[in-house]
Amino acid sequence: MSSRIPEITLNDGLKIPVVGLGTYSLKGSKGAASIQSAIEKGYRLLDSAYNYENEGTVGEAVRRCSIPRSELKITSKLPGRYHEYEKAVSAIQESLYRAQLDYYDLYLIHWPNPSKDQYVEAWQALIDAKKWGLIRSIGVCNFLPEHIERLEKETGVKPSINQIELHPFFNQAEQRKYHEEKNIATQSWSPFTRGLKDLKIDTLQEIAARYNKSIPQVVLRWHYQLGAISIPKSASPTRQLENISIFDFDLNEEEMVSISALSQPDGRIANQDPAVYEEF
Ligand SMILES: NC(=O)c1ccc[n+]([C@@H]2O[C@H](COP(=O)([O-])OP(=O)(O)OC[C@H]3O[C@@H](n4cnc5c(N)ncnc54)[C@H](OP(=O)(O)O)[C@@H]3O)[C@@H](O)[C@H]2O)c1
Repeated sequence: MSSRIPEITLNDGLKIPVVGLGTYSLKGSKGAASIQSAIEKGYRLLDSAYNYENEGTVGEAVRRCSIPRSELKITSKLPGRYHEYEKAVSAIQESLYRAQLDYYDLYLIHWPNPSKDQYVEAWQALIDAKKWGLIRSIGVCNFLPEHIERLEKETGVKPSINQIELHPFFNQAEQRKYHEEKNIATQSWSPFTRGLKDLKIDTLQEIAARYNKSIPQVVLRWHYQLGAISIPKSASPTRQLENISIFDFDLNEEEMVSISALSQPDGRIANQDPAVYEEF
């Protein structure tokens, strides 16, 4: 059984599904089988990164599956240690070699690493790689408004998407509002908090029971109704299907507000504030 996932159009015209598969920790033969299973269940957006060391696994799943490459949207990300222009260009090429792909649909700068102050150079490399046909759409992750403003001011090009930490305990209201004003899509990483914060709380349990859905389904529906693209990771075919079976019910305004109200200023999973946290 497979399920059809609605799509949204990014500011550069690329259409992507509103739910994709997170692939962090899906590696090797077992990982390829999990990703292949997700594609067969209906996933068309796969989120990977150079630093996950699984672009090869994603490429293998794409070759094994029955869906043409042209129907899939595949993402990878540039690591912090390769922000320098020439290094960024070769990292993008290396990402493609690893996956044995001709192009990525989305390529994102993984973290801004502001103390290094090289993310504009990295952005220029992504802009050029898009012109060369290596990438269809370019975006960022974990960029604060001030970082995005610099990209736009210094290159004239704004990202199509910003992938940020977003879940009920950290709802990113201000950042999402900024994205809306700029017509930049919001993508939610760790939409379930990676299991690191307990989602089995009364508010979510009660809503789930009301619709005969699971807590993860209610949480993903909340992301969808916020307008955010979620990328839940699951290795399990059953849970993969569960996570995309969210398009047959609606949360009402009160329920949306009560889930958003679970958010706390210090609700990040691991205190990774992009103003100071850096990853290489
Ligand atoms: N840009 C960034 O800086 C950044 C940072 C972190 C993550 N990401 C991306 O975001 C993706 C998702 O985030 P994440 O992997 O950190 O965590 P997540 O998607 O919030 O949670 C994944 C965990 O939830 C479990 N799970 C999934 N579906 C479930 C269900 N229906 N019921 C119960 N448990 C379920 C998974 O276990 P099973 O596999 O056993 O189902 C796994 O342990 C990553 O894989 C990665 O692609 C990006």
